[in-house]
Amino acid sequence: MLQDPFVITQVRGVLALDSRGNPTVKAVVRTAGGVGVAIAPSGASKSTKEAVELRDGGKRWGGMGVSQAIAGLNTVVAPRLIGLDSREQARIDGMLIELDGTPNKSKIGGNVTTAVSLAVAKAAASSAGLELFQYLGGPGARTLPTPLLNVINGGVHAGNQLAFQEFIIIPVGASAFSEAMRMAVEVYKSLKSYIADKYGKTATNLGDEGGYAPPMREVREALTALSEAIRSAGYELGSDFYLGIDAASSQFYDPERKTYTVDGKELDAGSLLELYASLVEEFSIAYLEDPFHEDDLEHSAELTARLSGKTLVVGDDLYATNVKYLAAGIAKRATSGALVKVNQVGTLTEALQYVRMAWEGGMRPVVSHRSGDTEDPFIADLAVAVGAGLIKTGAPARSERLAKYNRLLEIEDLLGPVATYAGREPFKGPA
Ligand code: PGA
Ligand code: ZN
Repeated sequence: MLQDPFVITQVRGVLALDSRGNPTVKAVVRTAGGVGVAIAPSGASKSTKEAVELRDGGKRWGGMGVSQAIAGLNTVVAPRLIGLDSREQARIDGMLIELDGTPNKSKIGGNVTTAVSLAVAKAAASSAGLELFQYLGGPGARTLPTPLLNVINGGVHAGNQLAFQEFIIIPVGASAFSEAMRMAVEVYKSLKSYIADKYGKTATNLGDEGGYAPPMREVREALTALSEAIRSAGYELGSDFYLGIDAASSQFYDPERKTYTVDGKELDAGSLLELYASLVEEFSIAYLEDPFHEDDLEHSAELTARLSGKTLVVGDDLYATNVKYLAAGIAKRATSGALVKVNQVGTLTEALQYVRMAWEGGMRPVVSHRSGDTEDPFIADLAVAVGAGLIKTGAPARSERLAKYNRLLEIEDLLGPVATYAGREPFKGPA
């Protein structure tokens, strides 16, 4: 008798290194009829609400080792999965949650649960002979997301003085994903020339997400650079491209003084809100992530209402891909979008629940990489599968970022004439 192709026959945890050279967890899940390999990414500007990565501490690897995490994967998790049907994602993720038993995956580690959960989905897709995006999204999955390309890095992702973490170009005017990438790369190159001319050649070094990290001090300097780069590449800001910002503002918030330090000035939440409102007008900013610190739903709600129909305000650290925090955000209309990072919560099933809740609550899900990422392109397929319409995965540089863009180019080719490009659609009208 033929063996069921979906049955899990082997689960193995292996050490991998992320784009910052830090150890992380790779899971290899074999079934009778396929194999799935997934690697957990790792953030730098983390929310305090995130699933916890299990790290060894001590001297080796600067404390970042994952040998206990991998040992736990191989001795505790693996035996429980052997013999299960790899399509039973929810049941398997439920087992991981139960096996861990903590509210933040701190016992077996969010790095372990993420790698295993994603590898199980890939193994099931491979056993079914389906592309991952088709397995996860069904036959209707055919929308390529508009890329949010972080081409100037600041905050904790760069060694400069920019308070905001990410300065983003958004090629909304393209008619296809591949055209969007061409336009974005042209602007990325023209930005390099702009920076070299103005700040010297050494200023064109790259930050953690492949964007330039020039010695800029003020946020308007970065936004002006993006506008100029778009113009000199022959495109128009406001029609071909929009701009975006991930402020990641918990990183420059002082909880004691209740102030934010931007451009060397100390601002209260009200003044920061006014700064955002004027930047939106000046620079066609259609995307604004984490404008206030991770527990401030109130000011976020005020800004969302004020920019309604103009700018998508998105919660990342605010929600940490967790339905518990998202529910509170929806109740307060704190944002119009919600960032999705599977490793913030630790399992695919929980991330998919979060995406569903976002849609139902009138929020746009935005699928995202981490600043410490790997060659695993899982999120490219995830973005198409859930029809997010937006993906945030860095600059068009460094292979851990390009793995996602290149996979999306491949998906566009696989879909052929039925592929559509989200373009401007995610930014239309109030959410
Ligand atoms: P992180 O940053 O991966 O370092 O947390 C990315 C983001 O804030 O969106
Ligand atoms: Zn963010």
